[in-house]
Amino acid sequence: MIRTSSGCLLLGVLILLGGCATMPKEDTEACASMAAGGFRPVAKERDQRFEGKVQENTARCRGGANAVAYRDEPWVDWQNYWATGDASSKAPGSGNGHLSPNGRGIDGALLDLEYQRMELVKFNLFDNEGTYQDYVLGRDGVAGPALKTWPQMRLPPGDPNYAQVGGAGAQLCSGELIRFRNLTGICNDIKNPLIGSTGELYARNVEFESTFPDLGKNELARNRNGERLALLEPDPQVISRVLFTRAQAHPEKCNNGLGLPGYSPDAECDYKKAPFFNVLAAFWIQFMTHDWFSHLEEGHNAGTMMAVGCASRKVANAEQALTPEDIADLGCRPGDRMDQAYIAEDSDPPSFTANGRPHLTRAYKTTRNTVTAWWDASQLYGYDDTSRRRVKRDPADPAKLLLKPVGQRDGAGEQQGYLPVFDVADPINPQWTGQEATAFPDNWSIGLSFFHNLFAREHNQFVDAFRKRAQATPDADCGLRDPAHPDTVIRYQDVTADELFEVARLVIAAEIAKIHTTEWTTQLLYDEPLYLGMNANWNGLFQDHKLAAAALEKIVTGNFGKSQDAKKATQWYSVFASGPGIIGTGSRVYKDDAIFARYDPDKTDIWSLNNPDDVNGGVNHFGSPFNFPEEFVTVYRLHALVPDLIEYREWNHDPNVIRYKIPVVDTVRGAATQEMEQRGLANWALSMGRQRLGLLALQNDPLFLQNLTLPRLQTATGKIDVVALDIIRDRERGVPRFNEFRRQYGLRTLTGFDDFVDQHLPQDSPERAQQQHLASLLREVYGQHKCDASKIITDAQRNDDGSPIDDCLGHPNGSMVDNIEDLDTVVGWLAESTRPHGFAISETQFQVFILNASRRLFSDRFFTSSFRPEFYTTLGIEWVNNNGPDGKVMESADSNGHRVEVSPLKRVLLRAMPELAPELAHVVNAFDPWARDRGEFYTLAWKPRTGAESDAAFSQP
Ligand code: HEM
Repeated sequence: MIRTSSGCLLLGVLILLGGCATMPKEDTEACASMAAGGFRPVAKERDQRFEGKVQENTARCRGGANAVAYRDEPWVDWQNYWATGDASSKAPGSGNGHLSPNGRGIDGALLDLEYQRMELVKFNLFDNEGTYQDYVLGRDGVAGPALKTWPQMRLPPGDPNYAQVGGAGAQLCSGELIRFRNLTGICNDIKNPLIGSTGELYARNVEFESTFPDLGKNELARNRNGERLALLEPDPQVISRVLFTRAQAHPEKCNNGLGLPGYSPDAECDYKKAPFFNVLAAFWIQFMTHDWFSHLEEGHNAGTMMAVGCASRKVANAEQALTPEDIADLGCRPGDRMDQAYIAEDSDPPSFTANGRPHLTRAYKTTRNTVTAWWDASQLYGYDDTSRRRVKRDPADPAKLLLKPVGQRDGAGEQQGYLPVFDVADPINPQWTGQEATAFPDNWSIGLSFFHNLFAREHNQFVDAFRKRAQATPDADCGLRDPAHPDTVIRYQDVTADELFEVARLVIAAEIAKIHTTEWTTQLLYDEPLYLGMNANWNGLFQDHKLAAAALEKIVTGNFGKSQDAKKATQWYSVFASGPGIIGTGSRVYKDDAIFARYDPDKTDIWSLNNPDDVNGGVNHFGSPFNFPEEFVTVYRLHALVPDLIEYREWNHDPNVIRYKIPVVDTVRGAATQEMEQRGLANWALSMGRQRLGLLALQNDPLFLQNLTLPRLQTATGKIDVVALDIIRDRERGVPRFNEFRRQYGLRTLTGFDDFVDQHLPQDSPERAQQQHLASLLREVYGQHKCDASKIITDAQRNDDGSPIDDCLGHPNGSMVDNIEDLDTVVGWLAESTRPHGFAISETQFQVFILNASRRLFSDRFFTSSFRPEFYTTLGIEWVNNNGPDGKVMESADSNGHRVEVSPLKRVLLRAMPELAPELAHVVNAFDPWARDRGEFYTLAWKPRTGAESDAAFSQP
């Protein structure tokens, strides 16, 4: 019943979206039979999932013969639908209406993505904190996925705020504790104070039983990987050198990433480049990850040192010690040592029985997130007492961050200044000496220096704008309220410096989340379905359909959000929230809460700061307290994005000229600060804005990161191969290997390394030959084994005919099969060359994002029901909604067929560096290489815009 009614509702929504679209004359049989079949039910069991694969008639209706042709491939079908690529993917002669082929392609892709999200919400939430048993069994008659509070999320007796939230009684945050984002992230959810706070355990997105495959704890794991896995087998440094190293046409011009003397522009370090994504985007994501998660404490891991490989390789499917010649050939270092990962708990996990089978209550080992999991700009503002002591406020106006002028450079932004350098008295690890002072200082480079300075300037810009309003209208209501006195108006002139500092933090965090969702991600996933989907996450699908938006919002908060029915509380909630958008969900409450109440601008909003259910009402954790899963960290191991050399330019001396090639490694740690001070924010913005980042692909990791000096280790070599460490850390933390990882996330199994070869490529193309070569290297490194069809290897998925998946993966029993079950997940997603158009990441990584990117919005009160002037001030809400002060600003030209606002990051850049206005005049998305011609419809062509023809970057492939 629910399927039918919800399905009808969705259909209604699609028709509503279509507006006045007319039925195309040639309505194909495929579409008719697809429609007759109705909507596919959301899978009941894990092994019946959608897997991104549709029926033949559905594929034909949405993408014609091309979509049908690739249905047997393991990769998701929607990438072959009409209009999901560039102009060439559009159906000839078709319009864009929702019932036209192009419309069916795009809507079909959005529907597929929505199914994926619903199933991810249903099958992929595994909390390590002890709540999982309730999630499966329910509590007090409420289904697990509909639970809203958990005893494990209470503040413990030792916490300084224990008494204030209610101590041993029912806990509820109030007063000062709910006003702003708290330093350690407590009381974001006012009924579950501990959720997302510093030091909580990482969750998992995979069945606990599938974690730590090398421990061989259960039969499936033993059948899957035999005796073949260990921390250093296959050898991580061999993997790095054979599968990750960037090939160089002129090694002498690259010099292992060190460039040439005097930073000569003749230096050349080859890397595979993404034409539609710039270096700013690479460092942006590192800047983000430092906000969301970290495993390290104050820049180090657990004390014990360990070997990190360069010891053996597979020869004829058996590990054999490396000879000195092998080591010299590979260029790896047997003497490297690294500190082991922290493990929070490694005793045997308790289990319980449900549905006739045992379940573990947590993974075999757990680890802690040492920062807040919230999108709260904690990398700038702090996540515990020590990190907060690193944040310097301006003594002249403590609402501001301390910024100091440096030198006498041209440029109107220069007077806004730069972050000061750490003092000797600051609580830092010695390796951070000489860096700019900020809360999260680890793995610092010019890219992080850039974003920390940029957002420090933006923080101060907001404070200045607020003070300007306060001066003009000191007695006006600024919108802010104190929850201890909710009915007392706070006038502009009443706001203290401390309050304004915290308001600015809220605004900066929301602005960053908006940039990430609507600007970074839409360029990372550069096609029409994702443009619509990501904007829907933020603004809603119905920006121009206010009535539909209001109706859907009602359904979401008034109905599903409070439902005790698991299905309504979780899956359909996530679908319908994409109607009105996640931002601000539950931030308005009307008395008449009929589901389809007409949108009425005159209706009184009765949301009240006095009512905890209003303050918290928009939050939804889908039955599993929010934290990032270990698997999320894995798919953010994006070191391949970073080039070895930065093509340095100057904004006031012909930006088309590359003046120097500066090695990124010469901008690491304190050297970043010197480089920033010497050359200035605007020049670095221009340089990183114009340069393409590295594709996420095999043999494309930076040479300098394979040879990074880490003096803190005090080891024989003093160096570490960071990309080999990516492999080791995932093994230490028990991330399932690639094939099982995909199955756990509801994606298709691969049957061998050749499945990585993109079947869209012509048989004789050099690219195809290159991919076949990479498949053979994977086989060389990971090996093969004689398969045994009697060994079932997974319970997460079945073969198409319903039979269990066994060790032979569809190959004849007893044949030699690739050890694809052993493939480290990072290696697997780097090897994925079949991707939807404009995807800078693989579909496996994307699947992880679909779930977790929406969850970190859905779970956060400050993005949902507390996205209100009572917390942000009126100016703050306007600033986030309009991308700055003084209303919305539109671009003069359309982009990819959409009328677009001047993007939020472009506005930030213009405020911080007005001198870049002429350069930015051509920019629509600040993460698209700034001098690229953005063309018509999601083109990936590497062509200069008018005025940049002489830019040497365009003569490089
Ligand atoms: C100059 C640039 C960079 C340097 C020097 C650097 C260095 C490092 C090092 C040394 C580690 C290992 C920490 C450990 O496990 O002991 C690490 C981890 C990591 N890096 Fe990078 N990195 C850089 C750029 C990036 C970029 C662009 C990303 C993109 C997201 C990134 C994402 C990560 C992630 C996700 C981890 C794992 C963190 C954790 O376990 O909590 N890094 N990096």
